[in-house]
Amino acid sequence: MKNNVLKIGIIGLGVVGTGVVKTLSSFNNIKIQTVAVRNLNKKREIEIKNLTDDPFEIANDPEIDVVVEVAGGVNPCLEVLKTAIKNKKHIVTANKELLAKHGDEIFSLANENNVTVLYEAAVAGGIPIIGPIKTTLRGNKFNKVMGILNGTTNYILTKMEQEGLSYEECLRQAQKLGYAEADPTNDVEGFDTMYKIAILSNIVFHKKIDCSKIYREGITHITISDIACANELGYKIKLLGIAQRINDNDERLDIRVHPVLVNENSTISKINDAINTVLLEGHPVGKIMFTGPGAGESPTASSVVGDILAIASEISYTDTILPSQRVNVSENAIQEDILNTANSYFMSLDAPNTRGVIGIIGSICAVNNINLQSIIQKGIKKDNTALIVVITEKTLEQDIQNAKKELEAQNINVENIIRVI
Ligand code: HSE
Repeated sequence: MKNNVLKIGIIGLGVVGTGVVKTLSSFNNIKIQTVAVRNLNKKREIEIKNLTDDPFEIANDPEIDVVVEVAGGVNPCLEVLKTAIKNKKHIVTANKELLAKHGDEIFSLANENNVTVLYEAAVAGGIPIIGPIKTTLRGNKFNKVMGILNGTTNYILTKMEQEGLSYEECLRQAQKLGYAEADPTNDVEGFDTMYKIAILSNIVFHKKIDCSKIYREGITHITISDIACANELGYKIKLLGIAQRINDNDERLDIRVHPVLVNENSTISKINDAINTVLLEGHPVGKIMFTGPGAGESPTASSVVGDILAIASEISYTDTILPSQRVNVSENAIQEDILNTANSYFMSLDAPNTRGVIGIIGSICAVNNINLQSIIQKGIKKDNTALIVVITEKTLEQDIQNAKKELEAQNINVENIIRVI
């Protein structure tokens, strides 16, 4: 850093990159040296003098102090950031997939090279959550972190409920508004939430998380009928990332992503549209919740720029930047298989209109250790089947899966199983 001006290189000039450049224009202690883009000829909202299509040019530029990566994806970002770190550059990234899959490698290399990797924007966009967990809340022992971590899916579920429109129609609306991509898989199948809950679990439980062991389900199978039945029973449906100790003080972690029925009176049930929320339960703090915009140009730029300025304000005073933000990833987490966890379940069943069918459902549940809390039958449909909805008491996932097979063997179609909290 020369003359108190921090020189940065930015990789990626999409929605977030554009927001970062715009926000930085009011800070004269930050100089954007070079921006790397995929296509040099693309028309852009903002004009940049030094564009390159080679991100390694930034990683290898001796003038650059900080590499800001807002391109997303693993390739080529992993190799680019590793090169930059070996060249002693600090990193600011919004790349959740990269950190969830390769965080251990990146953080270890950063520690070896005495540089800092900041990633506030990688989880819940504009909500400050990574910084507070690592600093202000450091004195806590956490038992749980969970949240609505994806704006696109929360928007779709909110619209399905409020307007009674199908998943497909609400997805189209989300695409028109620019929330969902043309290929929405990353959001709607829960990958984005999985990466974010992996990153949060890492800093909350101080363990290395294996993404491939996280149970993941998206929202594509949720129907308006499920939402209406859930509402009738006093619940809303939300896609949550959840990470918790199996028991208080237990080292085993239960980390998953799936739709959840949440009580309509809970605060989380009221988080609508593209808003995100993160809940933490720890000692001594108790329960706390952070809510705000989880995506989009300005909120995400707010977090990226905050990280850049945090480095800028330290770099002229010390060689060891923000030591409190460094991540130690020496130990693997013990991640429990979802089959061994206990939950309450909502099951929607399509049953033949025959005498005693509710009795059969009850018996199958009973032999599989499932105790029912509620049951409703919604008349008889034209095809002479009935929609029957049950909510169970706490049950082992393995027992529910066994019951599902036995119900289907009796011609009772299990249309959906959604966990309840
Ligand atoms: N696509 C994400 C969302 C934002 O809809 O919340 C980036 O992770």
